[in-house]
Amino acid sequence: MNPEIKPQNSSSNHKGLEMYFSPEIAEKFAELEQNEKNFKVARIVDAILVQETADIKVPIYSAELGGGAHPDRYDGFFSKLLSEHGHMDWVDISPLMLELAKKYISNEKYENRKDAITFIKSDILGYLRGLENEKLNIAVMKYTIDHINDLDALFEALSAKLAQGGKLIATIGSTSPELRSYSTNARFLYNGEQFPDNETRTLKDGDNFTAKFFKVSGDPDGGYLEGAETLKYFHSTEKIKQLAGSFGFDFFLGDWKDFVAQENQKNETMDQDVLVLTKSKRIRDHGPK
Ligand SMILES: C[S@@+](CC[C@H](N)C(=O)[O-])C[C@H]1O[C@@H](n2cnc3c(N)ncnc32)[C@H](O)[C@@H]1O
Repeated sequence: MNPEIKPQNSSSNHKGLEMYFSPEIAEKFAELEQNEKNFKVARIVDAILVQETADIKVPIYSAELGGGAHPDRYDGFFSKLLSEHGHMDWVDISPLMLELAKKYISNEKYENRKDAITFIKSDILGYLRGLENEKLNIAVMKYTIDHINDLDALFEALSAKLAQGGKLIATIGSTSPELRSYSTNARFLYNGEQFPDNETRTLKDGDNFTAKFFKVSGDPDGGYLEGAETLKYFHSTEKIKQLAGSFGFDFFLGDWKDFVAQENQKNETMDQDVLVLTKSKRIRDHGPK
């Protein structure tokens, strides 16, 4: 492991993340992620990674923040890292998710990825703060940015730890502030409270929502998977834009198809909002775009 990285003790600070600390639920969750939508989202992130690293000087130093169980994705990017002596820190607060991650690449097809990956048990902010300044070329947050409550602290840490031209590539669950009461997989609670099926709630910055996963996908009456719930935080588009501006990032926020060149979209048509921040040479006192 890279000696400059000081992992954080994760035992006390995982409110709302309990499901990733339960062996049974974590494993089930990782299995549920083996679905077509999840693979598609990973391919979308991979297309962005490959496009956005084309001009970055090698070797690339990257990190997946809140990496979870699936380093068996990002074929294009890993092939680039492996052929150019690049590196990826695979950071997660949950030791169980890291064990699962190792398991998912313990086969012939993916084994060589272990040469490029360092698994690090740490809170995302703690990991970033422990890094040398301007160390990172690429940070990835797939399905993870809404686990972060203090977005200002995340942007501040990224602005210090990304190299000039370095990037954050993140998926955004939804840019809409409208919270439905349930989706195919889960019921949503607004600031901890359940609300009627035919209503929505309008999320504001500072609000949180809880996703409680159904036992059977698509069956809200079939009960909940015990212990399977996560707490997420809402960040408005306005807030993200304002922070990007004040920390000197160029940014894109919107559907990935408006960002990735058509020839690299590989016939993938799914909608997926993404945030791409690029650390530009601008300094902090530049206002939002
Ligand atoms: C929804 S999962 C997504 C995992 C992965 N990025 C993916 O796309 O499959 C969220 C992951 O982030 C981790 N996580 C959440 N908050 C974190 C934090 N503050 N620091 C480190 N890991 C965190 C959880 O343990 C979990 O593995």
